[in-house]
Amino acid sequence: GEEQLSYSQAIQSATGSLYRFPVIPVKGVPLMNHIANNWDSIWAFSPHPTDLLIATYPKAGTTWTQEIVDLLLHNGDTEICKRAPTPVRIPFLEIFSPPPIPSGLDLLEKMPPPRVIKTHLPFHLVPPGFWEKNCKVIYVARNAKDNLVSYYHFDRMNLTQPEPGPWEGYINKFMRGELAWGSWYDHVKGFWEEREKRNILYLFYEDMKENPRREVERIMQYLDLSLSDDVISRIVELTSFKSMKENPMANYTFIPKPVFDHSISPFMRKGEVGDWTNHFTPGQSKMFDEDYEKQMKDANIPFRTLI
Ligand code: A3P
Repeated sequence: GEEQLSYSQAIQSATGSLYRFPVIPVKGVPLMNHIANNWDSIWAFSPHPTDLLIATYPKAGTTWTQEIVDLLLHNGDTEICKRAPTPVRIPFLEIFSPPPIPSGLDLLEKMPPPRVIKTHLPFHLVPPGFWEKNCKVIYVARNAKDNLVSYYHFDRMNLTQPEPGPWEGYINKFMRGELAWGSWYDHVKGFWEEREKRNILYLFYEDMKENPRREVERIMQYLDLSLSDDVISRIVELTSFKSMKENPMANYTFIPKPVFDHSISPFMRKGEVGDWTNHFTPGQSKMFDEDYEKQMKDANIPFRTLI
């Protein structure tokens, strides 16, 4: 549609200035310079109480959750849910790209509430307005090693992200919290510790894979919706990995080459649990696990698939 065209065209026309943004720390968290340079306006964002935030560490299942939520809110209506690319329907709060690409804040300003908003910001960098207004928040966590593997391939194909460098060095950067949006460990712990106080729905990618219908129903209940069994089945089907990989409004092919180079690694890559076993050597796995024990010692988050 029209919105897709204008979004893709905006990106196309800006490709020359879109490469490998460096990160700058904001309150100790490395964020890409275009985010860091606009930090004050992001921090000041004032949501409406009916806005819903979907928060994740990058590559934890954000897009999947976005599509589930959009379909739930529109009773499974694909006409509505395929009207525009995911980031146009559900703006990415902190993203600032060179003009004419609309920033997350630009898109949000033009959108009447209730809105669904995506963020990768860690808990302490989420604009305080979300907590002041008691907005609903859905958090999705993915096991560390698969999350790392997915992020590695994403950094290879998304030429706006910092250079991933070689695999082994990438593992170290992940463990030290040096990747864009910072430490995975701090991210999953930050939202976990606040989940009860803030009424955050805390989901796991692995649970969604194990029983997508159960998790779709949990999201539905959290949103105070009650849809028919048929509609729920339809939503589960429409948000399967296969359906989403084929959906041009969800599979990120609307971000054209050379910005997203799907020939290096497709955005909808594998969508599986345990792909880390194809990447980590036994030695790398051991080193990672030892460090993981230290960083996650007191966390008590029920991740199920480290080994
Ligand atoms: P892989 O790289 O392991 O395949 P995000 O949306 O947060 O960027 O996360 C992207 C990851 O979620 C990718 O993981 C992608 O393939 C996976 N994904 C996207 N849609 C999915 C779906 N419907 N079911 C399972 N995994 C999905």
